[in-house]
Amino acid sequence: MTEIAASAPSPNGSLRVDLDKKVEDFRAYEPAPARVHTFYRLNHAHQTRAFVQAKKQQYLGLDRQRMGIWTALEFLNTLVDDSDPDTELSQIEHCLQTAEAIRRDGHPDWFQLAGLVHDLGKVLCLWGEPQWAVVGDTFPTGCAYSPKIVLSEYFKENPDSDDPRYQTKLGVYEENCGLDNVDLSWGHDEYVYHVARPYLPEPALYMLRYHSFYAAHRENEYAYLMDDRDREMFRWVKLFNQYDLYSKDHAKPDATVLRPYYEALIEKYFPAQVRF
Ligand SMILES: [Fe+2]
Ligand SMILES: [Fe+2]
Repeated sequence: MTEIAASAPSPNGSLRVDLDKKVEDFRAYEPAPARVHTFYRLNHAHQTRAFVQAKKQQYLGLDRQRMGIWTALEFLNTLVDDSDPDTELSQIEHCLQTAEAIRRDGHPDWFQLAGLVHDLGKVLCLWGEPQWAVVGDTFPTGCAYSPKIVLSEYFKENPDSDDPRYQTKLGVYEENCGLDNVDLSWGHDEYVYHVARPYLPEPALYMLRYHSFYAAHRENEYAYLMDDRDREMFRWVKLFNQYDLYSKDHAKPDATVLRPYYEALIEKYFPAQVRF
């Protein structure tokens, strides 16, 4: 079973992108399965600063497609994990489960909406991007790698490891420059942040943009790249993280039943057509 061929059709014609879930699973117990090693070896080897900047150029003009948010969720849902169809959630079920858990705890509607859309950036897979350029933990490029980044031993295969400009603590950045000035590794977080930026309040945007930045929100690394605003907003990122879990404790959310509630929420914040 290979997890890496995100753009290769699976037997049922869908595409696979289950690595986010597998990584979450593996956080709970060592050692990491071979497919997680394979994934992070590719991710850490290829996510150079130049790669990140090229992907931003390619995608952040948001000129690929216009879709409504619910349509985008359904589009994302054509990306399924077929490794364990009886117990795993589809993409839309994961988005709804995250949103519902936030709603259940009485959080504001924009927080629920952040839960609903946080993984929409995975549509990058449907546009041919490999998994290592879409999912997995994110990390700063252009400066020294924290040893607390998952499977950091594979950074030795990244060409940036041989560039002395990028291997000091601050690298190309200034102390406390703010994360907005930092090129994190490219993936679904940064992309969905730009899609949602005109529409959602700032705490929601932080949740979208940094939900995979585990080195920062779980390990408290890279504090020296953050400014005061980042530090304040990361309280929201940490709060969000507890809801972004693939839980089997709750029943699968029923998209048909929940759709009217979330369509109303989408309509409150987003226009009918959103640029991707
Ligand atoms: Fe995610
Ligand atoms: Fe998620």
